[in-house]
Amino acid sequence: MNFWLLTLCFTLAKAWVVNEGTTCTLYPEALLHHGQAVDDSPSIQQAFDMCGTNGTVIFSNNLFHVNTVLNTTNLLNCDVHLRGELRFSTNIPYWRTHAISVVLQDQVTAWLFGGTNVNFYGEGGFYNGNGQAWYNANKNESNQPGRPMSITFYNSTNLLVDRLRVIQPQFWATFVWDSKNVSVTNLFVNATSNSKWGTMNTDGYDSWKSDQLLVENATIINGDDCIAAKGNTTNLLARNIYCEGGTGITIGSIGQYPDMPDYNINTTFENVKIKNAMDGAYIKTWQGTRIYTPSNGDWGGGGRGLVKNITFRNFEMENVGLPIQMSQCVYSADSNKGCNTSKLQIEDVKWQNIHGTSRFNIASSIYCSDERPCPNITFDNVNITSVNATRHLPYYDTDIQHQIFQCTNVIGQNSSGIPCNQAAPSNFSQWIYGNVDSTGLATLT
Ligand SMILES: *[C@@H]1O[C@H](CO)[C@@H](O)[C@H](O)[C@H]1NC(C)=O
Ligand SMILES: *[C@@H]1O[C@H](CO)[C@@H](O)[C@H](O)[C@H]1NC(C)=O
Ligand SMILES: *[C@@H]1O[C@H](CO)[C@@H](O)[C@H](O)[C@H]1NC(C)=O
Ligand SMILES: *[C@@H]1O[C@H](CO)[C@@H](O)[C@H](O)[C@H]1NC(C)=O
Ligand SMILES: *[C@@H]1O[C@H](CO)[C@@H](O)[C@H](O)[C@H]1NC(C)=O
Ligand SMILES: *[C@@H]1O[C@H](CO)[C@@H](O)[C@H](O)[C@H]1NC(C)=O
Ligand SMILES: *[C@@H]1O[C@H](CO)[C@@H](O)[C@H](O)[C@H]1NC(C)=O
Ligand SMILES: *[C@@H]1O[C@H](CO)[C@@H](O)[C@H](O)[C@H]1NC(C)=O
Ligand SMILES: *[C@@H]1O[C@H](CO)[C@@H](O)[C@H](O)[C@H]1NC(C)=O
Ligand SMILES: *[C@@H]1O[C@H](CO)[C@@H](O)[C@H](O)[C@H]1NC(C)=O
Ligand SMILES: *[C@@H]1O[C@H](CO)[C@@H](O)[C@H](O)[C@H]1NC(C)=O
Ligand SMILES: *[C@@H]1O[C@H](CO)[C@@H](O)[C@H](O)[C@H]1NC(C)=O
Repeated sequence: MNFWLLTLCFTLAKAWVVNEGTTCTLYPEALLHHGQAVDDSPSIQQAFDMCGTNGTVIFSNNLFHVNTVLNTTNLLNCDVHLRGELRFSTNIPYWRTHAISVVLQDQVTAWLFGGTNVNFYGEGGFYNGNGQAWYNANKNESNQPGRPMSITFYNSTNLLVDRLRVIQPQFWATFVWDSKNVSVTNLFVNATSNSKWGTMNTDGYDSWKSDQLLVENATIINGDDCIAAKGNTTNLLARNIYCEGGTGITIGSIGQYPDMPDYNINTTFENVKIKNAMDGAYIKTWQGTRIYTPSNGDWGGGGRGLVKNITFRNFEMENVGLPIQMSQCVYSADSNKGCNTSKLQIEDVKWQNIHGTSRFNIASSIYCSDERPCPNITFDNVNITSVNATRHLPYYDTDIQHQIFQCTNVIGQNSSGIPCNQAAPSNFSQWIYGNVDSTGLATLT
């Protein structure tokens, strides 16, 4: 170590970044302040400033308090090792006014992270979003303004995130935005509430405007989308995924903005287990007209685009409310406004080897708008039986005592492999709470 580095090391040790060569090792401020929850964000920021280019940042095996936003972007050739706990503060007014914008749906993030040739290794450490405070404050509403995503991978090329564990995320756990060649492997997310309030909006993995994505070996226990490929997600492969609770694996929602068409092309989801969830394997778009949608806190709809070459393969469902769906009216299904107006084209979608049980008497609802009927929608070896049918019990509160497969505007329906036996209503909801009857809608929504 030369004199300059020695001086630096001495100076920085006080700030709890120990710098040796190109490696910065972080220790929590609390060790110097009698265990007080002093904010470690400035030291974290400093470690990335010093070692974020051609270097290594190590979070030692300690508890770190993150009380202010983190912006560690534009890293280059950097390895990050997370060995301790990152505990995010529950100062809701602070985060609501300071979290960093991610543009999409006016949402925000607590940590913006990214760069080129970056590896993030979760080596026994974890991200603790302290989400219970957010779940309680949110009171089962949707998209509370200023509620931050845990970590956003932004403007990144060649990024590997391995063994990241996110416990009680504040909002969406991980988000990939404006990036290319990002692999998230061995991800673990657990958003479980211990109060009477649920974990709405705790998506496990979402992507937007990104290409060449891999998600391999994920376990996601949550209260919303397990994986959601939002607009302009292309060439995503997600495999070996376990989803529990929540609303399954989806392309969408897309088609929110008229001035930004969404192209979602070449995506495969395979080897997926979905347990005790509202939804399974599906595609959701907004309607074709712009409507103020309180449940989403925003205006939306009217977006065009294309969903093409999507495969859902080898899925095992267990007690899933709506195992397979295509909806073109996801946010105004309840009010049934403009449900048959979408101009967002969906084509070339396969469901292959899909097995297991549904909660109600419906296996699938495939709806395409009159404006854009769908070619090449196929089922191959899809066998879903309701939980009650497997027990030889009847269905309740319905006049239909068999499994339903709804279809509307499916081009070439007879050769699709879908055993269509009912028309799909344009306003069929993603959220159903009871069996479907001969009106085509669920008896409880
Ligand atoms: C980082 O490494 C690259 C390639 O090895 C080199 O071209 C660049 O100059 C280095 N940057 C700094 C700031 O050391
Ligand atoms: C984040 O940091 C980068 C520098 O790496 C800076 O250019 C950018 O403006 C910062 N973004 C925000 C929202 O602070
Ligand atoms: C995105 O990353 C590139 C390097 O790949 C950098 O040149 C550019 O400034 C970054 N953009 C933003 C908005 O940070
Ligand atoms: C998820 O978190 C809940 C609540 O803390 C806990 O009971 C459960 O065991 C956790 N699940 C896993 C797989 O860690
Ligand atoms: C909130 O939503 C969750 C999940 O849907 C549900 O289990 C819980 O009962 C709801 N809480 C209240 C108080 O309505
Ligand atoms: C995913 O899990 C499988 C089975 O445990 C393992 O063989 C594979 O290497 C894992 N993939 C990654 C990227 O760690
Ligand atoms: C998606 O990509 C297309 C074509 O590259 C572009 O016109 C459109 O604005 C993009 N949409 C979004 C949501 O970024
Ligand atoms: C469809 O996407 C898959 C990857 O999900 C890719 O392997 C295949 O080549 C694509 N097919 C076409 C016709 O582009
Ligand atoms: C889809 O995959 C095919 C085959 O690999 C490729 O030729 C095409 O460029 C991909 N489309 C997009 C939008 O990436
Ligand atoms: C339908 O699928 C076939 C076979 O995969 C393909 O050749 C054709 O281009 C597809 N048509 C459309 C409109 O996607
Ligand atoms: C579908 O699954 C059910 C229950 O899992 C089973 O009894 C039935 O034989 C299967 N049907 C086919 C065609 O594989
Ligand atoms: C399944 O059967 C049970 C027991 O008879 C009944 O309480 C329940 O309502 C049935 N579920 C459905 C979805 O019909």
